[in-house]
Amino acid sequence: MTDSRKRVPIPIKVAPAGDLPPDQRGVVLDSVQKHRSLEGALLPILHAIQERLGWIPTAAVPLIAFELNISRAEVHGVLTFYHYFRQRPPGTHTIYMCRAEACQALGAHGLEAHAQQVLGTKFHERSADGRISLEPVYCLGNCAMGPSLLIDRQLYSRVTAERFDEIVAALSGETAAERSTASAVGAR
Ligand code: FES
Repeated sequence: MTDSRKRVPIPIKVAPAGDLPPDQRGVVLDSVQKHRSLEGALLPILHAIQERLGWIPTAAVPLIAFELNISRAEVHGVLTFYHYFRQRPPGTHTIYMCRAEACQALGAHGLEAHAQQVLGTKFHERSADGRISLEPVYCLGNCAMGPSLLIDRQLYSRVTAERFDEIVAALSGETAAERSTASAVGAR
């Protein structure tokens, strides 16, 4: 006698391999836990992770997808659609450069090219030494005083190429001082 009942495969949910360091995994799970009940939970979760880690590790994608029961492609799609989300750790300092119209009219376009050349990086990446991140923004509310930059929560107005070089030199000086302090501490 043959069994006429159709066999229906039962999908098994398999937890992704734990290739995130434990501290990052903890942040991801905690962020998911806090926001999973919201409608459209993915965006608040990604924001929460970036707020705490400074970036969103690629290895977090399978874990978020598993926890929300959505596809990895969906998480990856949202993560890469919004340039705001970083997929690499930021530098010690982040320069947010305004690319909106009013600043463009006041010379931001030339400043962009200069900044990218001086830092040896494009937008969304870090300087050659890995210490300064360059990110675009679209209006800092300082339109009449452009070109405008926001660095470490401080607003800079009417920034010229020369002024940009001074700012970067000051940031580099600070990082050099940080380095020597760190090595002095390490030598103790
Ligand atoms: S357009 Fe640059 S600050 Fe508004």
